[in-house]
Amino acid sequence: MSKNCLITGAAGFIGSHLTDKLLAQGHSVLGVDNMVLGKRANITIALQSSNFIFQELDINDLKAFREFLQAQTKGQPVDVVWHLAANSDIQAGGANPDIDLERTFLTTYNTLKLMQEFKIPQIVFASTSAIYGELAGALTEKSGPLHPISNYGAMKLASEGIITAALERFLKQAWIYRFPNVVGSRATHGAIYDFLKKLKKNPAELEVLGDGSQEKPYLHVGELVDAMTFLYQNQQNRLNVFNISPDNSASTVRFMAEATVRLAAPGAKIRYTGGSKGWVGDVSKFQYSIEKLKSAGWKPHLTSNETVELAIKENLANLN
Ligand SMILES: NC(=O)c1ccc[n+]([C@@H]2O[C@H](COP(=O)([O-])OP(=O)(O)OC[C@H]3O[C@@H](n4cnc5c(N)ncnc54)[C@H](O)[C@@H]3O)[C@@H](O)[C@H]2O)c1
Repeated sequence: MSKNCLITGAAGFIGSHLTDKLLAQGHSVLGVDNMVLGKRANITIALQSSNFIFQELDINDLKAFREFLQAQTKGQPVDVVWHLAANSDIQAGGANPDIDLERTFLTTYNTLKLMQEFKIPQIVFASTSAIYGELAGALTEKSGPLHPISNYGAMKLASEGIITAALERFLKQAWIYRFPNVVGSRATHGAIYDFLKKLKKNPAELEVLGDGSQEKPYLHVGELVDAMTFLYQNQQNRLNVFNISPDNSASTVRFMAEATVRLAAPGAKIRYTGGSKGWVGDVSKFQYSIEKLKSAGWKPHLTSNETVELAIKENLANLN
């Protein structure tokens, strides 16, 4: 059944791919983004659809957000909010905690506020592995205690909390997806994006933060939006929490750096800055269990290393 969807962060990396996916499935999409990291180029194709309306606005400007919803939902109320707007630059949030308070937590708080006002019954939330902190072993949805080590992870965990609290008040259903590292075309940030930018500037040498031993799962954005929409259609509990990730695989930063050099600047020297962490708040190693995801009927196709290589090629094509 076709739905009227609102996507926050619609011009961002994942938000723009989700916009394309929902439009292709026949849904109507309202998109908002303040363009702090979002790019109009990401939604060029979507803007050609008569089922897509986009407005540049800041979610924390409640007046502007309310006026947009009032104007656009007269004939057709919003069925579901896909809430993706957040600060995705974890290092920036470490240096200035206000960034994650405003862009990661208050965007969720204010989105829920207007959802109550406009009687929108469902939210799908882009959460993260960062809420788990530095727990050992394969992380399941029940792992804990949850002690994030970055302001970003803390504000995402607080966002999950305010969503589950809203389920007690007015919200009918919530889907909370905890993404790993997501890569692919239109990336606005991340290690591959940084490596390619650095190599463009200096094709002779690549500086890599840490010692290269950091190891995490990487998921392709195409697989991610497929899983997000699949679970939304097929999981109908009041609260649906899922880790989404490649199966039993992860990639080291060393693999990523070597693959980027091989594909983008053969012969470049790799210089590691040293230390086991890339930056303050970086969870340097984690593994995900996706048993719950597989039981729900969705399986990834690519391994983490295959994903990384594909993303490097896609980002390289974007860069040129
Ligand atoms: N990319 C990843 O690896 C990853 C991993 C885990 C979780 N996530 C989450 O997925 C979501 C999308 O991430 P992404 O990688 O596409 O990042 P992104 O930065 O490309 O997308 C976020 C978008 O939100 C917008 N935004 C930020 N603050 C806003 C505000 N106040 N009002 C309106 N728009 C605002 C930005 O301009 C940006 O376009 C985020 O919630 C992020 O935390 C991403």
